[in-house]
Amino acid sequence: MKVYLETMGCQMNSLDSELVEAMLRRAGMERVDEPRAADVLLYNTCSVRQHAEDKVHSRLGWACRRKSGGRPLVIGVLGCMAQRLGEELLRRHPGVDIVCGPGQLAELIKLIEAAPSGPRALLDPPRRQVPDGRGLDRLDRRRDATRTHRPGQAYVRILRGCNKFCAYCVVPFVRGPEVSRSPRSILDEVRRLADAGVTQVTLLGQTVNSYCHSEGGRTTRLAELLTRIDAVDGIRRVHFITNYPAEMDRTILEAMRDLETVCEYLHVPAQSGSDRVLKAMGRHYTRSQYDELIDQARQLVPGLAVSGDFIVGFPGETDADHAASVDLIRRSRYKNSFLFKYSPRPATAAARRLTDDVGNEEKRRRHQGLLAVQGEVSLVDHRARIGGTVEVLVEGPSVRSNRQPVPAPPGQRQLTGRTRTDHIVVFNAPDELVGRYVRVSVEAATPLTLIGRTEDRE
Ligand code: 5AD
Ligand code: SF4
Repeated sequence: MKVYLETMGCQMNSLDSELVEAMLRRAGMERVDEPRAADVLLYNTCSVRQHAEDKVHSRLGWACRRKSGGRPLVIGVLGCMAQRLGEELLRRHPGVDIVCGPGQLAELIKLIEAAPSGPRALLDPPRRQVPDGRGLDRLDRRRDATRTHRPGQAYVRILRGCNKFCAYCVVPFVRGPEVSRSPRSILDEVRRLADAGVTQVTLLGQTVNSYCHSEGGRTTRLAELLTRIDAVDGIRRVHFITNYPAEMDRTILEAMRDLETVCEYLHVPAQSGSDRVLKAMGRHYTRSQYDELIDQARQLVPGLAVSGDFIVGFPGETDADHAASVDLIRRSRYKNSFLFKYSPRPATAAARRLTDDVGNEEKRRRHQGLLAVQGEVSLVDHRARIGGTVEVLVEGPSVRSNRQPVPAPPGQRQLTGRTRTDHIVVFNAPDELVGRYVRVSVEAATPLTLIGRTEDRE
């Protein structure tokens, strides 16, 4: 059986797809890159904005038309949108066989095998039935450590779900309550990855810094987990995303300062720079508390790079609120930030109680405004690095191969990689460096990348 698997959305989905792929392979199925060549079409979906869901509906429309044209196809919807819409997806797209919630992926092979006997939706239990965490990491434990999303790098889930219920966000509804994995299980996984040659791990959680696992009267939090991962032979870099500002504690920043493998990179979304909007979003911190957090982090961790997320056009956002977000970008000196236009999500507090009253044109204008300011701030950050040398973990060929003015010499290609601080670096080098570390001297900068020349290799 040939399976096409397309992934939308965040790193959590990318990891889920990797785990699904390992499971498909164990069951003797083969992954193909071309949907037309597949017997099974799987879409691992995202619900965070309407735009992401629209894309899936259009994919499903295409898939169902092919099927009704007589091709024997199994069509499956996985992940957040599957959980959010459930059986409604089966009604809306006759032809879909499988709807599988993000916590049910371990059952996917059975669902594929059972597809001929009729469509089926297998969803995660409602939030009030809080799972105890056992069994939730079944797939994580069975991953194929030799095949990660990038050579030498791996995502590792340490926490599922979210308990924060920010007013705009669908995640707590589709990914369920927060459950931390046991440190033992996480460390086993990290050791297995390291044995297979992985040197950089990125720990994942919607609010990764609320990691908290209790067992036999003993509680482990993120700082301790980082200490234990730091001791694993072969691991050189550890990142953790995404952080919730109100739960950042000093011990985590100290771990970043003191542990060699824990990188000086903090993704800590503010969402808005205005107290009024933060309150309406239900974010549980004020602008000045956020400012203090960034100051404290910069003071404790030399060389720290910070990145964030912002939403423009949240209901009731005024020009003054928007100006406060502009100001926060400048003040925080983010190396980059992810900027989104507010998209009302059914069932969330904002969609139920507030009117989406900032028009599309205004959202677009504010989005452009933040992009421009962030571009300036990024360029200042990047230019300050010209003349220095950075350690880069090589990821692969640069997508936009016209990025560097100097053409690649014979035997080399324009490659890209990242520094410890998550800065993207573009340089010419031979392909065999992918997955390895190289020192690059930085010679130029754009708002998005550093451009440089390799110095030596390890
Ligand atoms: N509309 C727009 N952006 C959203 N995000 C989450 N929910 C919404 C929404 N309803 C953004 C937040 C979050 C990122 C993953 O997506 O900025 O940090
Ligand atoms: Fe969504 Fe807020 Fe949870 Fe992040 S912290 S996943 S924005 S509810």
